[in-house]
Amino acid sequence: MKPGSWTAGLGACIAVLALAVFSSHAGGQEKPRKSSPTASGKAGASATGASAAKAAAPKVDYAQRFAGTCAACHGANGRSEMAGTPVLAGQPSLYAITQLFLFREGRRNNEAMTAVAKTMTDDDMRGFSDYIGTLPPVPAPAATTAPDAARMAKGKALADQHRCSSCHGADLSGGQQVPRIGGQKEDYLQASLHGFKSGTRPAYTQAMVSAVSQVPLEDLDTLAYYAARLAPTPAAK
Ligand code: HEC
Ligand code: HEC
Repeated sequence: MKPGSWTAGLGACIAVLALAVFSSHAGGQEKPRKSSPTASGKAGASATGASAAKAAAPKVDYAQRFAGTCAACHGANGRSEMAGTPVLAGQPSLYAITQLFLFREGRRNNEAMTAVAKTMTDDDMRGFSDYIGTLPPVPAPAATTAPDAARMAKGKALADQHRCSSCHGADLSGGQQVPRIGGQKEDYLQASLHGFKSGTRPAYTQAMVSAVSQVPLEDLDTLAYYAARLAPTPAAK
């Protein structure tokens, strides 16, 4: 923890997030996703002059740190195989930084993840989030059984009825501060939806709390079943 940077970081985060929330309200379905450079330059990873503008730290550094620190739980390619651990591949960087911020601030709590986030500086949060934003979505491993067609249809109908796609996008691939949920792991989706409903997962805005307030518990499970089985579509470059 760096107490000195705390207040400034907080302010900066809130400014960024407030802007994002505002633009999402103004833009509705509009999702101008990642604008991060695609260059996967392997060179120039030293600490030289990298602090210019908001480009944050060099990507290679955070790719390495991700491999060293995060991959054990979240998977080397961002597709976790560990129970209860979300897929990060394909997640917008703005969403990722929001959640890291909530964990660090103690507003979102998970023993494993809070411990990790507490050690992060503002540059770390930005660096890891920028790196996550470059990870292409990874499809789930081939299922041994075909999805239950009736349950998928019910899930789709529920998503339409509750207008999930008005924020998460027609293919549920998210954008900006809204997470990708298509292709996310079912156990994690289920836990998140129940968490929003019961209040154990405080969200950054009221969006999800009000979205699930009308949805019966068993329908949350059907929504998780459905979203988890959508093949993730590539993020718009
Ligand atoms: C010990 C396992 C573990 C490690 C190591 C770990 N995470 Fe996590 N992470 C989790 C779990 C579990 C969750 C879900 C927590 C919950 O359910 O609230 C999570 C959630 C997240 C989320 C929120 C995802 C979402 O969809 O809301 C982000 C972003 C994230 N981790 C990034 C990282 C980064 C970056 C690192 C490395 C610096 C890292 N994690 C290291 C276990 C881990
Ligand atoms: C008004 C916009 C909006 C609507 C409508 C909405 N969401 Fe969300 N959703 C969000 C935002 C924003 C977040 C990020 C939560 C936060 O604030 O921390 C989110 C988070 C989630 C998460 C957590 C994902 C993760 O990686 O942790 C799930 C699951 C989810 N939404 C599913 C749904 C479903 C299912 C519906 C329809 C019943 C829905 N959402 C409707 C905006 C919305």
